[in-house]
Amino acid sequence: KTVKGFASATVGNVACGFDVLGFAITEPGDEVTLTLLDERKKDCPVSIASITGDGGALPLDPKKNTSSFVVLKFLEYIRTHKGVDFSGHISLELKKNLPLSSGMGSSAASAAAALVAANELLGQPCTKMELVHFAIEGERVACGSAHADNAAPAILGNFVLIRSYTPLDLITIPPPKDLFCTLVHPHTELRTSFARSVLPRAIPLKTAIQQWGNVGALITGLLTSDYELIGRSLVDVVAEPKRAPLIPGFFDVKQAALDAGALGCSIAGSGPSLFAFSSSEKTAREAGNAMQQAFLSPKTNLDSDMWVS
Ligand code: HSE
Repeated sequence: KTVKGFASATVGNVACGFDVLGFAITEPGDEVTLTLLDERKKDCPVSIASITGDGGALPLDPKKNTSSFVVLKFLEYIRTHKGVDFSGHISLELKKNLPLSSGMGSSAASAAAALVAANELLGQPCTKMELVHFAIEGERVACGSAHADNAAPAILGNFVLIRSYTPLDLITIPPPKDLFCTLVHPHTELRTSFARSVLPRAIPLKTAIQQWGNVGALITGLLTSDYELIGRSLVDVVAEPKRAPLIPGFFDVKQAALDAGALGCSIAGSGPSLFAFSSSEKTAREAGNAMQQAFLSPKTNLDSDMWVS
């Protein structure tokens, strides 16, 4: 038996919602194919048959690779919590369509695609909410921090607000009808672990007040389809000021999106990709073109890819 799983790119933070807000776009995404074999091979119930699209960067050890690691966690959980004693072997093929270290939730997409496939392969023993827990564990393996703002929307879709990590309390918010996301990925890498290391350990109360004012307003804007309010709330005074210098041309690219009519623009997850919101598909495309042009300016001279969802 063979099952395919797919999970799309996700955008974490959404400007002001550092580690508590993220959303899924429709494409691109990673694909995982799992094949159930009768006999257990070696001592590990999962093996990696192939990985394509990663340029050889990802580990082939099933305990170190995010997509197989989360399947191992899933198998352990269904044995202890669901009484499913799996004695076969799962062979995993990963097709990476998402660039690594891009801020597009690449590791979360691989984990989510593998989990969705594993759950189907073994007769859906887990709910999507349970799968989110394993996907978050995968983030710890991938970048050293168990943030949920990519993993949760990669599995649940939509916008997801993480009200609490312990216990995990997730709120799914469907996007307003006319909200379009432009995602632009410049051809350069920024590791999440590094982009987290530059963040302040503590922030002044005044900064915190600004940030949670914007988070509350952004959620309100999403729930009431108030596009102007969404734009006004896409302000990040915590992570963006520290991370912007790590992204070549950040301020020019952001300004290009705003000049083209986007509602707002910020770093996608930990970068270096940027996302912008627009209230029409036409503006979203125009903003994307302008952002790509800005990345190409002589100062930065970076090629990029663009998606509109
Ligand atoms: N919230 C995470 C961060 C997202 O900003 O580090 C990583 O994609």
